[in-house]
Amino acid sequence: MTFDAQNGDYLSYVGLDYFDQVVRSDDAQRVDAFVAAAAMDLALLEARALGRSAHAPQVVRARAATRVVTQLARLAPDFSLDPSVAAAGLAALAQPGANYSSFASVAALALNGIPEEIGIAVRLTLLPTTRLHDEQMFIRCIQIFEGLYRQVATAISMAILDLHHGQAAAAKDRLDQASIRLEAVPALFRVLTTMPVDAFSIIRGFTDGRSAVQSRAFREVEFACAPTDPRNFERSAKIDIGEDTLQDVYLAMRKTHPDASVLEESMRRLDRAWGAMKRGHWGITLKVIGTVRGTGGTAGASYLQNAARKSLFPRLSEVA
Ligand code: HEM
Repeated sequence: MTFDAQNGDYLSYVGLDYFDQVVRSDDAQRVDAFVAAAAMDLALLEARALGRSAHAPQVVRARAATRVVTQLARLAPDFSLDPSVAAAGLAALAQPGANYSSFASVAALALNGIPEEIGIAVRLTLLPTTRLHDEQMFIRCIQIFEGLYRQVATAISMAILDLHHGQAAAAKDRLDQASIRLEAVPALFRVLTTMPVDAFSIIRGFTDGRSAVQSRAFREVEFACAPTDPRNFERSAKIDIGEDTLQDVYLAMRKTHPDASVLEESMRRLDRAWGAMKRGHWGITLKVIGTVRGTGGTAGASYLQNAARKSLFPRLSEVA
């Protein structure tokens, strides 16, 4: 990551190899520990920046980052965060002129208590390409999203396995847990939307060729839900998922399994949450870069607008 200025990609920009190998992307508790640590680190970064300059946009950003920490029970439920951290965050948010110092000391203590390897992963994977504070916020947001995508992808593949074993209730539960995580995403968007247009245009200049369109975990979610033409995604890394998609398995059991309709409800809920996240991302993109091309080489906002219209389970509406 340190030496990738010439030939780096999205994976190295965000530290995803480190994430896969050290955090271990197949271990839900460790992934959530990483998400929680990245969120607290982000809130501390913004609280420190507020200490240096209390201008209005920084107040908004510090509030938004603190709110993310208060939402960790939904964003990263497999990590048991000391409840005093969220309580200190809520107390700071309740005071209009708060300087976040009490919240910051509680969050710093909790961050020190994160398993050592995860704490090191969080520290080592923040390697921005510019000296802009905003890029640090950007990288942390991406990392938190990557953790979410990873957990959603895992939940879907585990749900498929459950269904193969006839356990529709367990599958439904996993999908609902994934939806709960995604339904908390607006808190993250509130942070991201504070990205100044000018700052992002500088960051873009240094990150050409790197884009989350290359995200493996994001693509895995879509590939695991319904058959998709992989040629549409030449930019993404090779993905190896099982044979059956969730939609295939559901359609095969739909007429015979008594729990099929409750499973369908959960699939629809997941689809709504995923779609809302994609629409939110499209809106922020329009605000921050307008209609220029993306760093991943797509048309940018119009590509995202089209992508946001696609359902995770296109055949569910036919069935309905
Ligand atoms: C200021 C903030 C952001 C802007 C302006 C932005 C812009 C874009 C653009 C233009 C694309 C289209 C692909 C390309 O050509 O690059 C894209 C794709 C994507 N971005 Fe972002 N992005 C932002 C933040 C984020 C963050 C924080 C994440 C979290 C990981 C993210 C995740 C994605 C994903 C997953 C795609 C692929 C979507 C798909 O193929 O359906 N973006 N983004």
